[in-house]
Amino acid sequence: MQEPSVVDTSALRRKRGARSAPKGRQVDAQALEEVRSLLGALPRRRDLLVEYLHRIQDACGSISAAHIVALAQEMRLASCQLAGAQALRDRLRALEGPEVRVIGAPCIGRCEHAPAAVVGRRPIDAATADEIAAAVRARHVEPDLPPYADLAAYRRAGGYRTLEACMRGERTVDAVIAELENSALRGLGGAGFPAGRKWRIVRTEAAPRLMAVNIDEGEPGTFKDRYYLERDPHRFLEGMLIAAWAVGIESIYVYLRDEYAACRAILTRELEALARDPPCALAPIHLRRGAGAYICGEESAMIESIEGKRGMPRLRPPYVAQVGLFGRPTLEHNMETLYWVRDILEKGAAWFAGHGRRGRVAKPGVHLAPAGISARELIDEYCGGMLPGHELYAYLPGGASGGILPASLADLPLDFDTLQPHGCFIGSAAIIILSRADRARDAALNLVQFFADESCGQCTPCRVGTAKAAHLMAKERWDAKLLTDLSQAMADASICGLGQAAPNPIACVLKYFPQELEDGRK
Ligand SMILES: Cc1cc2nc3c(=O)[nH]c(=O)nc-3n(C[C@H](O)[C@H](O)[C@H](O)COP(=O)(O)O)c2cc1C
Ligand code: SF4
Repeated sequence: MQEPSVVDTSALRRKRGARSAPKGRQVDAQALEEVRSLLGALPRRRDLLVEYLHRIQDACGSISAAHIVALAQEMRLASCQLAGAQALRDRLRALEGPEVRVIGAPCIGRCEHAPAAVVGRRPIDAATADEIAAAVRARHVEPDLPPYADLAAYRRAGGYRTLEACMRGERTVDAVIAELENSALRGLGGAGFPAGRKWRIVRTEAAPRLMAVNIDEGEPGTFKDRYYLERDPHRFLEGMLIAAWAVGIESIYVYLRDEYAACRAILTRELEALARDPPCALAPIHLRRGAGAYICGEESAMIESIEGKRGMPRLRPPYVAQVGLFGRPTLEHNMETLYWVRDILEKGAAWFAGHGRRGRVAKPGVHLAPAGISARELIDEYCGGMLPGHELYAYLPGGASGGILPASLADLPLDFDTLQPHGCFIGSAAIIILSRADRARDAALNLVQFFADESCGQCTPCRVGTAKAAHLMAKERWDAKLLTDLSQAMADASICGLGQAAPNPIACVLKYFPQELEDGRK
């Protein structure tokens, strides 16, 4: 166990004859008392640090500096570890406070209902100022739960039979992994790594093996994980348990972004129901709350955050499949990747292989469409066309990171690997449509400002490059040469995908929308 972070230095100061006020962090007795009573007999484990910060936030409405110092004392954390907690506190403070503070948030995961707001934990869709004020006055701060398929409904519709068949040995691990490989299911968190191959890799690592499920969903334009969780949570849980069985997982950690309060309530309730009436022996499942940082969606940063550390990406190798959560081989998956496992096993690999998934369109939302569909077909056949008065101008094929393409390329097939020749990628397949009322350079500036805000600051090219690029892009005339040099440095020398992908929107504007930079024309 490490030394307490707050030590009595009075003897030292006396020895040095110091007369000034005591240096270092002084523990406030009342804050310490509050922290102790909130934690009760809970274990003082570092990996529970973020949970305890949430506990203070929930009980007190905010987290004061005194609480942070008291918590560090109580958990015997060193100063550098406290710095991580403090960074989280800054994030958490943005969620709510005892007094009303209205702040712009980069992403609350409700794009399809924009303009949206959150009062306390309650989302307000298509929000007006009056509705927000009314919710604040009424202290209406908890979310309503949407209607969803609970355990009984899921079971009535044949749920958990595939998992049970696996447990009974009616399906072998090899056959299940082969079916996944044949389906060509690729990770839906953004990187698109083949899911079956990932299972095989982690399975060959020494036990104990862990699983970490990524529901951080911070990519602008992405709300698919929330969409599925709010409707059919057990389809995801069954996929997760099948993966745990196939890979031989000892414990599962589910990391859920804190903005999704309704999802948390649903998952808490349904995990309890599952524990009361399990379809098989369950590995321990830990539901952890994120703290609002986009970078914590990057798999190794998420793992750091689950361990109670500051969410910063790790240098690789070793990969998380080898040395992941708590130093153990870890199967890390986006929630939606696991959501499709049951259907692939029941309907067959060919069924999924024929499907992929997937502004200013008539019907925004989550649409299941064949892989290889073009943006134009998607808009016309699934999204009810463009809104009246709008003409397609450009589209973002993969959230904030995947670049921006012009309408002239709207017939490209959207899939993994089809967009790279055009400097783009499909990522989480969150497609954002721009009309002639928009400018690509404005969208690009918005995205680069987002990256600058969300950079964890660990590497200089990303930390300084995103901020400098945003500054240059805000000018009427872009310095194309400087922006290109900056982009090169960011892409080459950043540790993780955030810094590496941040230049994508810049390159796309320079390549596809040069007319906007010359005279502002479109
Ligand atoms: C900056 C950054 C943010 C990310 N955010 C998320 C996220 O919110 N959710 C997610 O599942 N994956 C996110 N990823 C991708 C993960 O690192 C990882 O590739 C993914 O969770 C793997 O799961 P999959 O194979 O099921 O896709 C992010 C990656 C980067 C570089
Ligand atoms: S690229 Fe950016 S976000 Fe990623 S580790 Fe480096 S500074 Fe952090």
